[in-house]
Amino acid sequence: MALSTKLFTVVALSLLILSPLDVAKAQPIAAGLSWSFYARSCPNVESIIRNRLERVFRDDVGQAAGILRLHFHDCFVQGCDGSVLLDGSSSGPSEKSAVPNLTLRAQAFTIINDLRRRVHRECGQVVSCSDIVALAARDAVVLTGGPNYNVPLGRRDGLNFATQNATIDNLVAPFANTTTVLNKLAVKNLDATDAVALSGAHTIGIAHCSSFTDRLYPNRDPTMDQTFANNLRTTCPTPNTNATTNMDIRSPNIFDNRYFVDLMNRQGLFTSDQDLYTDSRTRGIVTSFAINQTLFFERFVIAMLKMGQLNVLTGNRGEIRANCSARNINNLFISSVVEDEGPQTSQF
Ligand code: HEM
Repeated sequence: MALSTKLFTVVALSLLILSPLDVAKAQPIAAGLSWSFYARSCPNVESIIRNRLERVFRDDVGQAAGILRLHFHDCFVQGCDGSVLLDGSSSGPSEKSAVPNLTLRAQAFTIINDLRRRVHRECGQVVSCSDIVALAARDAVVLTGGPNYNVPLGRRDGLNFATQNATIDNLVAPFANTTTVLNKLAVKNLDATDAVALSGAHTIGIAHCSSFTDRLYPNRDPTMDQTFANNLRTTCPTPNTNATTNMDIRSPNIFDNRYFVDLMNRQGLFTSDQDLYTDSRTRGIVTSFAINQTLFFERFVIAMLKMGQLNVLTGNRGEIRANCSARNINNLFISSVVEDEGPQTSQF
C-alpha cells in the first residue's frame, strides 16, 4: 500500500472513533429542539448551571446521583416536561408523592429551583425547568467522571402532572427482571443496548434497604454473591431498615464502567441490575461495557439523548415555568377558559 493510501486509511479510521460530543451531535433530534436554542436568549445558561453544580457537588457529590435520577423520573412519566417537579394541587396528588418518587432526594428539587432562579435572574423567564433538569443531569454525569455531551434544548414545561398510577406504570421497579425492563423500555423506543447503558447510571448513588431486601430475606437470591449478601444484611438487618448503601461497591461516586464489573461478580444490587447479566439477551452487552468503558460512555450518551427527548413539549405547547414546582398562574387561567389551547408565551 502506498504511504499516502496508508495515511488516508489511518485518518479515516481515527475519524470513525467519535468523541461523546460528536456522537451526541450525530444523533437525530426531536422536532422543535435545537443544539443552539438559547444562543441568543440565554447564551450563558450552560455555564451558569455547570459552575453552580461544580460547587454543589464539591460539597456533596451524592447530589449528582439525585439529579441524574430526577431526569430519568421526569422523562419516563409523560415525557421530559418537568412534571415530576410539580407540587400536588386540587387536581390530585403530585407525581412526587407516588411511591417510586418518594426516594428521590428532596435536595434535588431544591437544587433545580435554585438553578432556575440563577438562570432566570440573568436571562429572564426564557429557560424551561425541563431543560434545566436535562442540562443538570448531563453535568451530574460529567462532574463525576462520565462523558461530556451536548444536550438538544427547547423543551417546555408541562401544565399537568401524571396520576399516581401512570407514574408507577411508567417507571421500573427494582424487583423487575430483564423481560420487564426490556418491555417497559421498548414502549419508549429504547432497545436492549439502551436498557443496559441506562442502567449503568447506577454506577453512582445510593439505594434504601427496601429497594433490595427482597433479595436477602427470607432467603438470599442465589444470583447474589454470598459475601456481598452478608454485608448487605449487616446494613439492613430487617427488610425495612431505614438505611442506605452505595449501588456500585467498587467506585460509588465515580461515573465509570465498574457497575458492569459488579454485575459480572454477582454484586449488582437490584434484581433489575443483576438479571441483565443472567439474561442471555443482555449478558453480552454487560460484558462489553465491563471491558470497554469508552463503548459504555458512547452508548450511554446515545441512550441519554433518546431518553432526554421522550415526548418533549416544544413550540407553543406547555410553558416556561416561573417556579419549577408550580404551574404559572396565568396558564391556570388560560387553560380554564380556553380548552385545548396552548399558552401563548413567546420563546424570545
Ligand atoms: C432500568 C430500570 C431502573 C430501575 C428499576 C431503577 C431503580 C432504582 C432504585 C430502586 C433506586 C434506589 C431508590 C432508593 O432506594 O433510594 C435507584 C437509584 C438511582 N437510579 Fe435508578 N433505576 C432504573 C433506571 C435508571 C436510569 C435510566 C437512571 C438514569 C439515567 C437511573 C439513575 C439512578 C441513580 C443515579 C440513582 C441513585 C440516586 C441517589 O443516590 O439519590 N436509574 N434506581
